[in-house]
Amino acid sequence: MSALIQLQHVTKTYPMGEVEVHALRGLDLEVPRGQFVVLLGPSGSGKTTTLNLIGGLDRPTEGAVLVEGEDIAQYSERRLTAYRARKVGFVFQFFNLIPTLTAAENIAFALELTTKDRAVVRQRTEELLALVGLSDRGDHFPSQLSGGEQQRVAIARALANHPAILLADEPTGNLDVETGRQVLQALRELNQKEGVTVVLVTHNTAIAPMADRVVRLHSGVIASDEYNPHPVPAAELNW
Ligand SMILES: Nc1ncnc2c1ncn2[C@@H]1O[C@H](COP(=O)(O)OP(=O)(O)OP(=O)(O)O)[C@@H](O)[C@H]1O
Ligand SMILES: [Mg+2]
Repeated sequence: MSALIQLQHVTKTYPMGEVEVHALRGLDLEVPRGQFVVLLGPSGSGKTTTLNLIGGLDRPTEGAVLVEGEDIAQYSERRLTAYRARKVGFVFQFFNLIPTLTAAENIAFALELTTKDRAVVRQRTEELLALVGLSDRGDHFPSQLSGGEQQRVAIARALANHPAILLADEPTGNLDVETGRQVLQALRELNQKEGVTVVLVTHNTAIAPMADRVVRLHSGVIASDEYNPHPVPAAELNW
C-alpha cells in the first residue's frame, strides 16, 4: 500500500517582480496513514508552503502531490474544493472561529457542508465536543471561551467530516504552555481515536518529542527526518 501523502520532487517558486522566491526546492516526503508528524523549521523555511500544498490551498510549481495515490496538483478547482472539504481539516494559529456562532454552531456549520441530515449533524457535534473535552461549552460564543478552548473547538471543527488528514499550522503559537499542552494532547487523542493523520507545523522544537516523526525543513529542503520510537505524552512537554 502506498503512503497516504506523497510529495514527489516538489518545488514552489513565487515570482516577485524581477526576482523569484524559491520557497521549496525539491521536496520528497511520504507520510503513512495514522502518523503524527511534526514539521520543524525556522521562519521562511517553507513549512506553511508545504502544508498549503498538501491541503490543496495552493499548487506546486513542479512535482506531484499524491494523496491516496491521486495527484491533487492536477485536480480542477472544483475537485480541489471537494478534496479540501472532505479529506482535509485545517487548524491555524489564530483559531478562525466564526464569532457570531456558538462553539456547537461552529462545528455544525462545517458538518453542514457535507450533510443536510439534522440528526447526523447534532450527534456528530456532540461527539466532537466530547472528544475535545468541551461538552459543557457548546453554547458558548468564541468570546466566552479561553484561547485553549477556542483552539479545541477549532480542532473539533476541523475533524467534523472525518478528514484523512489534519493540518495544523502553529496551533499552540498563541497559547501559554499549559493551554498549549492541552491542545496538543487533544490532537494526539484524536490522532489515536479517529485515526486521523496529523501534520503539525511549528518552529517550537520543544513540541518535537510528542511526534512519531520529526521532519526538519531548511531553506525549502528537508534537512533531517527522524522517527521517535517512544513519543512523549503532550502533558510532559515543556517550553
Ligand atoms: N505568496 C507568496 N509570495 C511570495 N513569496 C512567498 C509567498 N508565500 C511564502 N513566500 C516566501 O516563501 C518562503 C517560505 O514561506 P513559508 O510561509 O512557507 O515559511 P514558514 O516556514 O511557514 O515560515 P514561518 O515560520 O515564518 O511561518 C519565505 O521566504 C516567504 O517569504
Ligand atoms: Mg508559516
